[in-house]
Amino acid sequence: MYKIAFYDTKPYDEHSFEDINHPEIEFKFLENKLNKHTATLAKDCDGVCAFVNDDIGKETINELYDNGIRLIAMRCSGYNNIDLKEAKNKITVVRVPGYSPYAVAEHAMGLILCLNRKIHKAYFRTRDYNFSLNGLTGFDLYGKTVGIIGTGKIGKVFAEICKGFGMNVIAYDLFPDTSCDINYVSREQLFKESDIISLHCPLTAETKHIINSETIRIMKSGVFIINTSRGGLVESESLYNALRDGRVGAAGLDVYEEESDLFFEDHSDTIIRDDIIKLFLSLPNVLISSHQAFLTKEALHNIAMCTIQNILDYFEGKESKNVVLEE
Ligand code: NAI
Repeated sequence: MYKIAFYDTKPYDEHSFEDINHPEIEFKFLENKLNKHTATLAKDCDGVCAFVNDDIGKETINELYDNGIRLIAMRCSGYNNIDLKEAKNKITVVRVPGYSPYAVAEHAMGLILCLNRKIHKAYFRTRDYNFSLNGLTGFDLYGKTVGIIGTGKIGKVFAEICKGFGMNVIAYDLFPDTSCDINYVSREQLFKESDIISLHCPLTAETKHIINSETIRIMKSGVFIINTSRGGLVESESLYNALRDGRVGAAGLDVYEEESDLFFEDHSDTIIRDDIIKLFLSLPNVLISSHQAFLTKEALHNIAMCTIQNILDYFEGKESKNVVLEE
């Protein structure tokens, strides 16, 4: 029996893992995020399972290591919150590379449809018996150009969804997939020609703040920016300024650079100190969801299945393509 400390778990996580028959693994579900202070909670465990906003920096790694932990099983695809350099030669890191590209791609399209046709406004208006249409004019997606940055699993599904709407799809990827029917262009061309830009690349040193005041300057006036990837891809203040000035027409943000202290929790009875998110939320053309794009039944099931398999593979010494870093 392998005992695993599951950090930052919510009821929907617990249900999805408990729904799977897994006699070899004992779960220790913890509400706490993993960080240097909470790492000791795993001292009676054989490994930890962590999520997108856990702080797995140098001190956390060393605290885990000192408590005998040799496995971090991420139950997500991204691992930009782990200090891999520090973990090297100490702890094995595994991840779930893909669990439902449809969940994230469909959410990205949901943000576009809602922002464009102002469904979020219509919802509140009609509940107040306000049936006026003033200010709700959108545009046809048909014939518009969507620029996709990152055409991996999610970007490719998103491209297909956009084609279904009759949109002209262009894309930029550091490693273009020439086997698929995607019109690759340079980053600059994508910025210049897109009516909507959707981000589906990982957060790396190269992609950090890929949306900034310089890149926004070359975009079409009124462009929509959709980010369901990682908050750090967008320089928030520049995006806010461009939204305020009308250079960016709308923003759909499922992720936010400073989300770790906010997202996944109910802060409705506290004073939020993050001024930028308050500014974003004051704009009618911004839609924020709190890292919700992955949240479908299918995705949760696939995450649980893959995480359990990753854990078993590690303890049984099996090779796995889901290993990010070997101990
Ligand atoms: P993937 O690994 O299949 O695809 C990523 C693509 O980005 C690859 O084609 C890669 O070549 C490309 N890429 C890498 N560096 C690049 C660069 N500098 N410029 C342009 N393209 C670059 O990943 P997948 O599964 O499609 O996920 C994409 C991102 O979505 C993840 O990195 C993750 O951050 C995010 N995500 C968000 C979720 C949410 O709930 N909001 C859930 C799951 C993933």
